[in-house]
Amino acid sequence: MRVAFKKNISILTFILCLHISFINGQNKIPQIQLEKNQTSSVYIEAKIDSIIAVLTLEEKIALTHAQSKFSTEGVSRLGIPEVWMSDGPLGVREEILWDDWGEANWTNDAITAFPALTCLAASFNPDLSGEYGFSLGEEARYREKDVLLGPGVNIYRTPFNGRNFEYLGEDPFLASTMVVPYVKGVQKNGVAACVKHFVLNNQEHLRDKINVEVSDRALHEIYLPAFKAAVQKGKVWSLMGAYNKFRGQYTTHHKILNKILKTDWGFDGVVISDWGSAHNTKEAALYGLDMEMGTGTDGLGVSKKDNYNYYYLANPFLEAIKKGELSEDLLDDKVRRILRLVYRTNLNPNRSLGKLNNKEHHEVARKVATEGIVLLKNEDNFFPIEDKKGVTIAVIGENATRNMTRGGGSSQLKPLFEISPLEGIKTRYKNATIIHTMGYESGASAYNAALPATLNQDSLYVKAIEVAKKADIVLFIGGLNKSYHQDTEGGDRKVFKLPFGQEKLLNGIYEVNKEVGFLLVTGNAVEMPWVSKTKGILQTWYLGSMAGHAIADIVSGDVNPSGKLPFSFPKKLKDNGAHSFGETSYPGDGVNQYYKEDILVGYRWFDTKKIVPQYAFGFGLSYTDFEISDVKVNQKKYANKDQIKVTFNVSNTGNREGAEVVQLYIGKHKSKVKRALKELKGFTKVYLEKGEQKTVTISIDASELAYYNTEVSDWSVEKGTYYLYVGNASNNIIKKIKFDLD
Ligand code: BGC
Repeated sequence: MRVAFKKNISILTFILCLHISFINGQNKIPQIQLEKNQTSSVYIEAKIDSIIAVLTLEEKIALTHAQSKFSTEGVSRLGIPEVWMSDGPLGVREEILWDDWGEANWTNDAITAFPALTCLAASFNPDLSGEYGFSLGEEARYREKDVLLGPGVNIYRTPFNGRNFEYLGEDPFLASTMVVPYVKGVQKNGVAACVKHFVLNNQEHLRDKINVEVSDRALHEIYLPAFKAAVQKGKVWSLMGAYNKFRGQYTTHHKILNKILKTDWGFDGVVISDWGSAHNTKEAALYGLDMEMGTGTDGLGVSKKDNYNYYYLANPFLEAIKKGELSEDLLDDKVRRILRLVYRTNLNPNRSLGKLNNKEHHEVARKVATEGIVLLKNEDNFFPIEDKKGVTIAVIGENATRNMTRGGGSSQLKPLFEISPLEGIKTRYKNATIIHTMGYESGASAYNAALPATLNQDSLYVKAIEVAKKADIVLFIGGLNKSYHQDTEGGDRKVFKLPFGQEKLLNGIYEVNKEVGFLLVTGNAVEMPWVSKTKGILQTWYLGSMAGHAIADIVSGDVNPSGKLPFSFPKKLKDNGAHSFGETSYPGDGVNQYYKEDILVGYRWFDTKKIVPQYAFGFGLSYTDFEISDVKVNQKKYANKDQIKVTFNVSNTGNREGAEVVQLYIGKHKSKVKRALKELKGFTKVYLEKGEQKTVTISIDASELAYYNTEVSDWSVEKGTYYLYVGNASNNIIKKIKFDLD
C-alpha cells in the first residue's frame, strides 16, 4: 500500500515536472532511460509525451520508415535507439545485408529452427505454444532484435497457398487459442511479436495486387478472430499489414486498421507494412500504417541517392505536413506508438539478455515436432517399428535428406544444425539395417524459380525399386519441399498431386514390397490416391533443427503420436470450398477474387455440404486407445457470464501412455442465419498413463456462440436450441447432445 502510494507520488511529481517545463516553453531534453521500477504505462506515456515535445518534425518522420532492410532510425542525439527486426515465425532469420536481400554471411547468426506453425497448431497444445514463443523470443533477444516478424495467422483457405506452413491452420478458434501464448512467450523477453499478415492474405499468387471480396460475416467470423485474440488476449505489440487489397483498398493502409484494429479492438501497438506493401503517402498517413518497410527500393542499388528518404512515409509525408495537407497529429500518433514499442523492448530496463541454441531450445523444438506429427493411417500396427537385428529398413525419398530450413521465402533459416530424417533414424536404429536411396530428385531450392533436377530420374527409380525389393520395410520420405510452387512464399502450388514422379515411384515400390510407410513432409494437404498402397502414413510437416530425432521418436514408438490435423485434407481439390466455385473464387481473375464459400471454410464446408474428406480436421491416431464417456452439459452463470460447462471422462484403454485431444464443436439448430453444421469451440489435450482415467471440464462462454450480425454490425447470440458435439476429430463425434441457451 505504502509502496504503491509512494510510486504514485513519484509518477505525479514526474508528470508535474514535465508540465512545468512545457509551461516554461523550455522543452527540456528528457532523460530517456528508465529505472527498473519505472515501467508502469502511466510513467511511460508521460515520458513519451515529454519526448514528442522535443522532437523535430524530421526526427519524428525518421522514426516512421526504414533506414535499412530490417531497421528503422532512432534519435541519436537523444539516445533513442534504432528498432531492429527479423523474420520470422519459425526461428530468427540470418542477418541480411543493409540494403538488399543478400545474406550478410555473419558467422554468429546460426539459430535453432523451430517446427513450422502448421506443426505447432497440430500439437493442439497451447502450453507448448507458449514454450515455443518464449524460446524463440530468447533467441531473438540474444540476436539483439526488438521485433520478431511472426507469428502468421492467415487462415488456411486453400491447399495451394504456398505459405500455409507459416500459419496456424483453418480454424479461427484453434488459431486464436494457439497464437496467444506464442505472442506472450515471445514478448516475455522484451521482444515484440508482430502478428501477420493483416488481413486476407490467404494466397501467394498475385498477392501484391489481388483484391479480395469477402462478406462481413466471413471476415469477422473466420479471418479476423486470430488477429483479435493476438491483440486483445495476447496484447501483441506490433502487427504487419498485408500485400493484397480488400474491397479495393490496400490492406496495409486500410480503413479497417483505424476502425476495427485500433478503435474497436484497442490495439496500441505499431502497424508495420509488409516489405513493399505501402503504396501511397496520404493513405499510409491517414489509414493506420505506422512504420513503412521494404518499399520498392534496394537502397544503394537504384539511381536515387539515399532511397529511404523517398518512402511514402518519409519526405513526401514531411512535405505534406509542412504544406498543411496532412496534420502533424497523424504523425504524432505514429511516433507515440513507435516510442511505446521502443519502451516495451529496447528501453525496457528489465529485459533479459536472451539465449541462443541452448539445450532447452532444442528440446522445445523436438517436443513441438513430436507432439505435432500426425499419425494418419496405421494398418496392422505398421508403426511403431521395432529396432530388430536382421530387419532391413529401406529409407527412400529425397526428403529423407533434403534441407528444409533453407528456401520457403522470408521464413527461411540458417540453423546451427538440422537433423535430417535419415540421420535421426540412423541414430535411433542401432540393430536394424538401414539402407537409403533418393528415389527421385526435385531440383535445387531457389526463391522465385524452379530449378530443374540434375540427376537421371530413371536411374533413381530403378535403384529405388531394387532397394525396396531387398528390404523388409520401406519408409518413403517424400512430399513437397521449400522450392518455388511448392511450400514457399511468392507463388502458390500449381498441382494438388505429389510432384516429382513420387506417385509413380510409390506404385513401383508397392509392386515389390507391401510393407510401405509414408512420411509426408509438407505444409499442405496433397492428393492421396495412393493411400491404399501404404500401410502407415505420418504427416510430418517441416520440423526444423530436430526434425530427424522427432521423426525417429515417433517411428520407433519412443513417443506416442498425439498430433491432430489443423486443416482438412480433401480427396479432390474441388472438394475444398475455395476451389469449388471456379477461378473467380480461387485464384481470382487477375484483379478480383470472391471468397464464395463465405463462412464455410475448411471442415465447415465438408460438414455442411456432406463431403467426405480424405482426412478430416482434428483427426489423428495414436498407438494406444482412448474412450470418451459420461459427457454432460450444464449452463451456469459465472462471474456474470453465461457459461456452458461440458464435463466428460477420458480413459486410456490401450497398452501404453498417450495423449488424446478431445474436441468440442457446437452447432445451432434452425438458426435464422446461414451457419456451419458445427464449429470448434473448445479442446483439451489429456495425457494419460495406460489404464488411467481423468474427468475433464471445459467451459465455453455463451458469447462464443455468437455470429456476426450484419444488421447491427456486431456480434449476436441466438437463443434457442444448440447441439454440442464431442469427439476426437471433426468427423469422429462420440456424443451429440442437445441443449437450450436461454
Ligand atoms: C513477407 C513478410 C516478411 C517480410 C520481411 C515479406 O515478403 O511477406 O512475411 O516478414 O517480407 O522479410
